[in-house]
Amino acid sequence: MTSTWTFEEIADDDVAQVVALWHACDLTRPWNDPHLDIADARANPASTVLVARDASGVVASVMAAYDGHRGWLYYVAVSPDLRGAGLGRAAVEAGEAWLRAAGARKTQLMVRTTNDQAVGFYERLGYADQSTTVLGRWL
Ligand SMILES: CC(C)(COP(=O)(O)OP(=O)(O)OC[C@H]1O[C@@H](n2cnc3c(N)ncnc32)[C@H](O)[C@@H]1OP(=O)(O)O)[C@@H](O)C(=O)NCCC(=O)NCCS
Repeated sequence: MTSTWTFEEIADDDVAQVVALWHACDLTRPWNDPHLDIADARANPASTVLVARDASGVVASVMAAYDGHRGWLYYVAVSPDLRGAGLGRAAVEAGEAWLRAAGARKTQLMVRTTNDQAVGFYERLGYADQSTTVLGRWL
């Protein structure tokens, strides 16, 4: 079924609502400043934050970033009272479309090990465990 939701680039007026959405979705962590994450993604031509809105404002988001090898999705979020109606799928598809247009041939994403619900969601959308351990270090 074709989604009725439209995702567009985040605008200045959306930022506070997007941060509130990420808090409501438990996607924020003390070590990631969401305002800085949004500003960084907007400042870089290889990344973006896309949002869907209804009459109340921002109801869903996805951050997409192409690193020259893989396309990455972050901050897939749907307003808690609108879940289960296809908006999460629409967010992922919007991010994938943006990455495809940027030149990416494959999308990847990281799910916190505590987020079993999200794993089921992504598997339903065709994503599979890549048998890879993600390592990180602050610069
Ligand atoms: C995960 C999340 C984005 C899903 O959004 P949603 O709008 O409820 O998802 P959708 O309604 O678009 O579901 C898409 C499909 O996944 C399925 N699905 C959703 N959750 C599922 C689960 N836990 N297990 C199996 N299937 C699931 C739906 O049944 C639907 O299937 P269908 O299209 O064949 O009918 C939403 O729950 C959310 O914002 N969670 C909090 C933030 C989060 O954890 N984000 C991921 C960070 S990695």
